[in-house]
Formats: sequence, C-alpha cells, structure tokens
Amino acid sequence: MRITVVEGDITSQDVDAVVNAANRGMRGGSGVDGAIHAAGAPEVLEDCRRRFPHGLATGDAGWTTAGRMAARWVIHVVGPNRHAGETDRSLLTSCYRRALEVADELGARSVAFPLVSAGVYGWSREESVDAALEVFRSADTADTGVDEARFVAFGRSAHELVRSRVESPGGP
Ligand code: APR
Repeated sequence: MRITVVEGDITSQDVDAVVNAANRGMRGGSGVDGAIHAAGAPEVLEDCRRRFPHGLATGDAGWTTAGRMAARWVIHVVGPNRHAGETDRSLLTSCYRRALEVADELGARSVAFPLVSAGVYGWSREESVDAALEVFRSADTADTGVDEARFVAFGRSAHELVRSRVESPGGP
C-alpha cells in the first residue's frame, strides 16, 4: 500500500472512498463532517439515516454513498473525543484499522483520509497521523486490497507536518 500526502480539501479527492471524521450520532456536524455532508448532500445524510438509525460507536467505521462527490463511497469513522475523556489511543488506531476493513469490504482501492480527531475532538495532528501510520504499516493490514492511502492535509502547516512524518524513517 502506497502512503501519499496531498494538501487540500477531502471532498474534492478523486479516489474510490473518502473517510469522514464523524460523530456517534451520524447526522453531520462541522469540520470534515460538515464539508462532506455539504458536498455530497442530500444523499449522504439520507443514507446515514437509513444505514445508521442508532448511530455508530467510537472507534468504529461504516459506509454510505458519496452522493455528489467524485468518490464513490464515504467511509465514516467516529474518532475518540479527548474533550469528553476519550483518551484511549487504541480508539484512534481502531478508526484507521476499521476504515481499511470497510474499504476492503467495498473493494475500494484508493482511500483519502483526514486527520481523524485532530480538530474538534482535541487530539494533536501528530497523534492522529502517527496512529494512522502505525496501522498502515502494521503486519495486520499488509494484505489489504487498498493500494493507496492518501492523507489529505488541510492547510500548509498540516501538509508539512504530515509529509515529514510519512517520510521519517524512524516513524511508527
Ligand atoms: N478536508 C480535509 N481536512 C479537513 C477539512 C477538509 N475539508 N476540514 C477540516 N479538516 C481537518 C481539520 O483541520 C483537522 O485537522 O480535519 C481534521 C479533523 O478535524 P474535525 O473535522 O474537527 O474532526 P474531529 O476532530 O474528528 O472531530 C469530529 O467534529 O465536526 C464535528 O461532526 C463532527 O462531531 C464531530 C467532530
């Protein structure tokens, strides 16, 4: 699996699936979630209501259509909310692991990821990218059918940070 980094907006990525940093209610929000619902709307919200009548647990992932976006699917993950006391790092790695599993169920080959939990949910960007890299580079995910995991960094400083960690030989 190739790990790539671009600077930009996740909603305009030309990939099979884009990952959404959602919340347990699964009805949209701000940040990445708001952007994805706005760009894909109204099909994304309709599909969320249909597939997730009771929402989704922290650390888990599920999918919907991508509606009007170029991607085919949205893989929604619910990151841990540090401000609400969800400080268990394994919930963050779980999001990235479950997202790859759902991508495999769908047959998605290219998947774009935001930095899950590194906005409203209060984790640092370093913590989020390192959790992702640990999963992407682990033996557990070595047989994934995903051949590109693309970090979409929002803004220049995020891009520099993600790129340096992806390129760091001593990284996770
Ligand atoms: N494309 C790519 N990255 C983005 C975009 C975008 N359009 N918009 C924001 N980001 C970046 C942020 O800068 C941050 O680094 O995505 C990262 C995650 O931030 P959030 O979207 O706030 O996600 P998270 O911290 O997981 O919080 C989730 O926020 O919006 C609500 O409904 C959402 O309640 C949930 C919570």
